[in-house]
Amino acid sequence: MSKILIINNKINSFNKKIIVDGDKSLSIRWVLIASQSNGLSKAHNILMSEDVIAALDSIKKLGIKVKRYKNYCEIIGNGINGFKYKKNLTINAKNSGTLGRLILGLLIKSPYRIKLAGDKSLSKRDFSRITSPLEKFGAKFYYKNKNRLPLSILGSQSVKSIKYLENKGSAQCKSSVMFAALITPGKTSIKAKKSRNHSELLFKYLKIPIKIKKTKKYDFIDIRQPKKIKAFNYQIPGDISSSAFFIVLTTLSNNSKLLIKNVNINPSRIGVITILKKMGAKISLKNQRNYRGEKISDILIKSSNNLKGINCPSELNSSAIDEFLIIFLAAAKAKGISYFKNLAELNQKESPRLNWGSKILNMMGVKTKLTKDSIKIYGQPDLKILKPIVIKNYLKDHRIFMMSTIAALTCGGKWKIYDKDSVNSSFPNFLKIMKKINTK
Ligand code: S3P
Repeated sequence: MSKILIINNKINSFNKKIIVDGDKSLSIRWVLIASQSNGLSKAHNILMSEDVIAALDSIKKLGIKVKRYKNYCEIIGNGINGFKYKKNLTINAKNSGTLGRLILGLLIKSPYRIKLAGDKSLSKRDFSRITSPLEKFGAKFYYKNKNRLPLSILGSQSVKSIKYLENKGSAQCKSSVMFAALITPGKTSIKAKKSRNHSELLFKYLKIPIKIKKTKKYDFIDIRQPKKIKAFNYQIPGDISSSAFFIVLTTLSNNSKLLIKNVNINPSRIGVITILKKMGAKISLKNQRNYRGEKISDILIKSSNNLKGINCPSELNSSAIDEFLIIFLAAAKAKGISYFKNLAELNQKESPRLNWGSKILNMMGVKTKLTKDSIKIYGQPDLKILKPIVIKNYLKDHRIFMMSTIAALTCGGKWKIYDKDSVNSSFPNFLKIMKKINTK
């Protein structure tokens, strides 16, 4: 039975301090890189969500020792290419595109066929974007349904380094090839459209031979296989993608204020802050500091009742890719028309989010103009929701659930939102934190 969240009242004004769950991108990368290092690595504040647990379960199946404690997690790595391969292994990436794509990079030397499966949502997403470059290293892939999970990978003992052009602005594709480079002799060269750079920062911190040349649109990355990766501890900061829901909640609430402590504000991730600020949101970054190449800060948000529409520059798309649903909600309450373009990638996520974003706004009574890769939103600062709204059958996309919850609490109306458990992919404490803020 699907669990349903019912919301019939707007949130009261609040003034609170919160901590959000750990960064998902960093948690998954830590798990996968620690699996290739030598000896004991520890991560504190690691995100204990279904996506990350699926990553831990996957490396366990590949012979890596994992211990989970209340506040931290330990991995005892077996060195580079140290997976213990067995016949008939199946790895289940569940809902996680990041896990499914990144781990394939580490499997290109598997002597046996390994099956990679995913849940219903992940099995609708394209995997050729990553199996094509990994084939060039020498791995072989077998699909049942064209370019969709489940697939099988058979590695090669004579992998060769490649030159790769990443042209979608996908950090998953870039990182998967970077991980393959860890177990491939020679120099792998990547020309990648700008996207989140956590893998690069971790490689640098771990002294893995990496050279990066940045131009305006592309990064040129050269990687050589390291001899060894040292075990490493990591204190995972809060996730900006999870914070974004509370940033918009506060922005759209009356007379409210929120401090979110200890969030990763890596410049390649904070498109949401840039966009909301351009729209007139009151957001400031406090107590900024550096941690192992990443930037961290506290985020202070105050309500703003005069947001204005935005013609969003596409250069910001990649740095806000997981935040567009919640940005669309802000645009629905802004004065004037907002326009977001070149966003075809948004329909390639856990659900077709460009379509779903538009659909939810329409249910709320907000007019949109939708194309295959763009949306125009006709903002209504005084929006009143007149019809009851039911959100269901959205492939359990965690971000659809959270966006709908914030919409209900800030715009009012009567809402029934199905699949409460969807938040467990990325932000298990979402509703618990919400209760702390919304004391009604
Ligand atoms: C991620 C990259 C993004 C993002 C996903 C996490 C990552 O996907 O949507 O939630 O950790 O590398 P793409 O690289 O496919 O854009």
